Amino acid sequence: MLVLGIETSCDETAAAVVEDGRRILSNVVASQVELHRKFWGIVPEIASRRHLEIIIPVIEEALKRANVRLNNLDAIAATYGPGLLGSLLVGLTVAKGIAYALSLPFVGINHLEAHLYANFLHHPEITPPLVGLIISGGHTELVYLSEEGKYQLLGTTRDDAVGEALDKVAKILHLGYPGGPIIEKIAKEGDPESIDLPLVHFKEDTMDFSFSGIKTAVLYYVRKLEKRNIPIPLSDLAASLQRRIAQMLTERTFKAVSLKKVKQLILGGGVSSNLFLRTFLEERKPKGLKIFFPPLQLCTDNAAMVAACAYPKIKEGKISPFSLDAQPNLNF
Ligand code: KG4
Ligand code: ZN
Repeated sequence: MLVLGIETSCDETAAAVVEDGRRILSNVVASQVELHRKFWGIVPEIASRRHLEIIIPVIEEALKRANVRLNNLDAIAATYGPGLLGSLLVGLTVAKGIAYALSLPFVGINHLEAHLYANFLHHPEITPPLVGLIISGGHTELVYLSEEGKYQLLGTTRDDAVGEALDKVAKILHLGYPGGPIIEKIAKEGDPESIDLPLVHFKEDTMDFSFSGIKTAVLYYVRKLEKRNIPIPLSDLAASLQRRIAQMLTERTFKAVSLKKVKQLILGGGVSSNLFLRTFLEERKPKGLKIFFPPLQLCTDNAAMVAACAYPKIKEGKISPFSLDAQPNLNF
């Protein structure tokens, strides 16, 4: 079965052709990062306009690279949420249009679920029950997957998403956008134990996260040094920040793993490409736990994960109606 996946929830315009939910025939991602860099973040209006300009060429390129024609396709899938409304609408509308014109099944996909499916593309051995952690610029979601398609949200952020906090700190330090990869790079030269940043603990027993306190602590630390004309130790600060973030993610995630008594943990989202975090988790994991990460190019937004996520749904006949609307605040 050949599925065309389309993803336009944020600032990547992406299309992919995936065979039987596993084999990637093409995976085209047109990043808008350069357009948004000068604004130090994503400008929704610019994002949706750019999607509109390039969605058709991106789909054509995905079909060409896969050596597939539109009439070879068996189904069309597109992200319908969560994300930016104007951006979501572009991919969703194009997907419905193609499906309608070709009389093909159309499936709306939850972007968060798709991030988890990036793992299934490369690790066929993964089978629920398992715990999933989605960490990106817009999301920090800890979920329990009891069986295929059945999710229970265990924890989420109460303020900033983890990638958002990294991007904001990079802005405070004038490092560039997006912040995560830059912070990871400069942190390699730093000492992760050198600067004592706060680790948030809630009074109640929860698996929720919080990252804005760490971000604000960095801001105050930088202001203090600037007042005294002391140079900011960028590498040490980046390394210490990365360690604190890894600590919070690890604590909550392993708590979920122990509570749900699972033997598999899967990660997804842009921040899961962070190698410091990957090692941090591996070195501290409970005995018997297997941790799966998507390959680096499938951690950030792409459409292969959307097509992969659609495959089991299509097989089970879970087709979406054409009336399905974009849902910017969709969760599990
Ligand atoms: O999944 P993604 O491409 O888009 C969203 O759905 O948000 O994630 C983008 C986020 C950004 O905040 C970026 O700074 C972060 O992922 N990111 C990283 C790394 N690569 C991307 N964070 C930490 N380390 C990285 N290597
Ligand atoms: Zn994403």
